[in-house]
Amino acid sequence: MGKTYYLTTPIYYVNDVPHIGHAYTTLACDVMARYKRSRGFEVFFLTGTDEHGQKVEKAAQAAGETPLDLADRVVKRFQFLWEKLNISHTDFIRTTQERHKKSVHELFRRIEAKGDIYLGEYEDWYCTPCETFWTETQLIEGNCPDCGRPTEKLKEESYFFRMSKYQDALLDHIETNPDFIQPRTRRNEILSFVREGLRDLSISRTTFSWGIPVEKNPGHVIYVWFDALTNYISALGFPDDPDGHFASFWPADVHVIGKDILRFHTVYWPTFLLAAGLPLPKKVFAHGWWTVEGQKMSKSLRNVVEPNMLVDKYGVDAIRYFLLREVPFGLDGDFSHAALVHRINSDLANDLGNLVSRTTAMLAKYFDGVVPAPEGSEEIDRSFIDPFSIAVKTVDTQMNDLAFNKALQTIWERIGAANKYIDETAPWTLAKDPATRGRLGTVMYNLLEAMRLIALLVGPFMPETGSKILQILGLDPEKTHLDHQDRWGFLSSGTQVAKAEPLFPRIEAE
Ligand code: MSP
Repeated sequence: MGKTYYLTTPIYYVNDVPHIGHAYTTLACDVMARYKRSRGFEVFFLTGTDEHGQKVEKAAQAAGETPLDLADRVVKRFQFLWEKLNISHTDFIRTTQERHKKSVHELFRRIEAKGDIYLGEYEDWYCTPCETFWTETQLIEGNCPDCGRPTEKLKEESYFFRMSKYQDALLDHIETNPDFIQPRTRRNEILSFVREGLRDLSISRTTFSWGIPVEKNPGHVIYVWFDALTNYISALGFPDDPDGHFASFWPADVHVIGKDILRFHTVYWPTFLLAAGLPLPKKVFAHGWWTVEGQKMSKSLRNVVEPNMLVDKYGVDAIRYFLLREVPFGLDGDFSHAALVHRINSDLANDLGNLVSRTTAMLAKYFDGVVPAPEGSEEIDRSFIDPFSIAVKTVDTQMNDLAFNKALQTIWERIGAANKYIDETAPWTLAKDPATRGRLGTVMYNLLEAMRLIALLVGPFMPETGSKILQILGLDPEKTHLDHQDRWGFLSSGTQVAKAEPLFPRIEAE
């Protein structure tokens, strides 16, 4: 296998239906997966659902169904939405699948064989909605420091993972691998947390039964985070590795998560892996949280943004573009309909849409839609063309940093430059004089070639739009990739170009 790239979303709890926050993480990963594929990587892109634990058990009880029935029902909503958002995942893992359970048992077994799992007794404050134990000092007025809801004191026999033993090894790993936790502020947060000292971690529960039982003591179910985190290797086939995916794709290139689940991914998960003697993921990237029209999204506020509805109303590519363009990846952001409509009208309809419709309309009019051959170049052409190769490289760096909004800015600078090039070269004037027909051909060729590169660069963000533009240019989107085709001059003269329908109709503000 050539270059490989493995990236994951968190697995989503099935006690909630998908909203814009879940869609965000998955979309960001999809953009990255598509970008890497276009760059010639063999990509494994994993998503799935987290189906065990007390929360799911309770939600099922409340709905009068079995936890598995609830999971089967909700998982369809996630899968439906991913299809609608054009998510190109390689695999969808459910923690209730046999392949996953087998993997969790093996991880538990390996850590136990190392002497790092022992039976003890646990007593602390438990937040059921967050499935997290807290010490007395961590509570805020007796409530959960994460969600603010009441906690209860629980005492139970429990298996413990000797996490304290791995404190130094983890610190060392974080310090010697500056890119392991991103963005930087998150890394600092975790560094100080680990430096304060790691306690051993309770990794089994006896107070409910919806989970994976501890093999030799089935009165215990394995802690939902031990279970859930293992999905990243169970989906690859750990430990048997029947398809060789574990060998090819582990360690993961990046786990993309929300900032709320950073500690689980950068403290628990790496120490489990260290104990099991497995390599650590290369990077964990925590993005920020979305509020809606300035407020926290919550069922009680009835402001949960339902992505299906957004896609129906504005189109899938507009939503994909907006979520990744509006907010720097890693920071919090606010979702508002006004901001969305503004982006659609200015960036998509005006900048990108107009470039494509003006260019193809002029080509139809002046050259019957056939790509002319460029004849020489003037200063204005060079200062239009040269920045494209720089932009392609800049976008690559920005994508590798998961700086999606910056990559889009870089692309939009090129779109802006192309629109300006039209205004400055004034093809309609060149068309009036037969003496400048060669010059007109050069200008048109440059615009079309710019369109091709722009289509390739926007493709991962807006797959339908990218494909449409390539098809307009007479190219096969299946065979047109950034890899080997990211240089200027790839478009052949003589190609028949179609006249474009408007890509993004303007939206009247409500
Ligand atoms: N099941 C765990 C993850 C286990 S991974 C081994 C979980 N699930 S979740 O469904 O609650 O959340 C999944 C992801 O959605 C998290 O990364 C979380 O940050 C993200 N979001 C949920 N609400 C969000 C916003 N309002 N804004 C942005 N992302 C948010 O945690």
